[in-house]
Amino acid sequence: MKYMFDTANLNEIEKYMKIYPICGVTTNPSILKAEGKVGFYSHLKAMRKLIGNRSLHVQTISADAAAMVKEAEAIVNGVDRDVFIKIPTTEEGLMAMGQLKAMGIGVTATAVYSQVQGFMAIAAGADYVAPYCNRMENLDADPYEAIAAMRYMIEEEESSAQILAASFKNIGQVNRAFLSGAHTATVQPALLHSTFQMAAIHKAVDDFKADWVAVRGDVSLADLTE
Ligand code: E4P
Repeated sequence: MKYMFDTANLNEIEKYMKIYPICGVTTNPSILKAEGKVGFYSHLKAMRKLIGNRSLHVQTISADAAAMVKEAEAIVNGVDRDVFIKIPTTEEGLMAMGQLKAMGIGVTATAVYSQVQGFMAIAAGADYVAPYCNRMENLDADPYEAIAAMRYMIEEEESSAQILAASFKNIGQVNRAFLSGAHTATVQPALLHSTFQMAAIHKAVDDFKADWVAVRGDVSLADLTE
């Protein structure tokens, strides 16, 4: 069970990386749009500088395989060769995935809304497969059933692909994705932060402190001598 951040915001990444144990950061063109018209490569390099050797996932734009491969080469040349290239799981995307793997470039199969897309991406050798949980639920499709099926196939085939569950609007979806077999989930830091604001958690902490103070006064535990 591993977490990634689904954001390109440098301040958020820097702040929340100190709190949450993440193994990577995912972007897409919409996530990058939220940062304004920043330099594409300079921004991605700044992200890399912050996250070090955690994985960085960057998406291509074009619809045809040859152009996707060209864009992927531009990304790895412009940022570094460790970037995982997010390729939409279309027919053209599947072709591009095979070519990129043959070139030794890491692939994250994205825009996965169905089991067959996931199965094909696994067969094409993708390193990560990203089912879109909230978007699937909006379409009355069951992302958890799809994740369980993909995990079953990964184990059956002894594939090294990892399920990178994505597109979350609440933390319950994230938990269910893990319980269904996702290896990793990419989550907006703000969503994680909001779940830790639960009043009951902070009331418990305050109540314990009040009981301490009732006995010893406002004395730090670290300053006790007996
Ligand atoms: C991963 O980076 C996906 O593109 C992302 O989680 C999609 O999220 P959305 O459905 O909120 O756009």
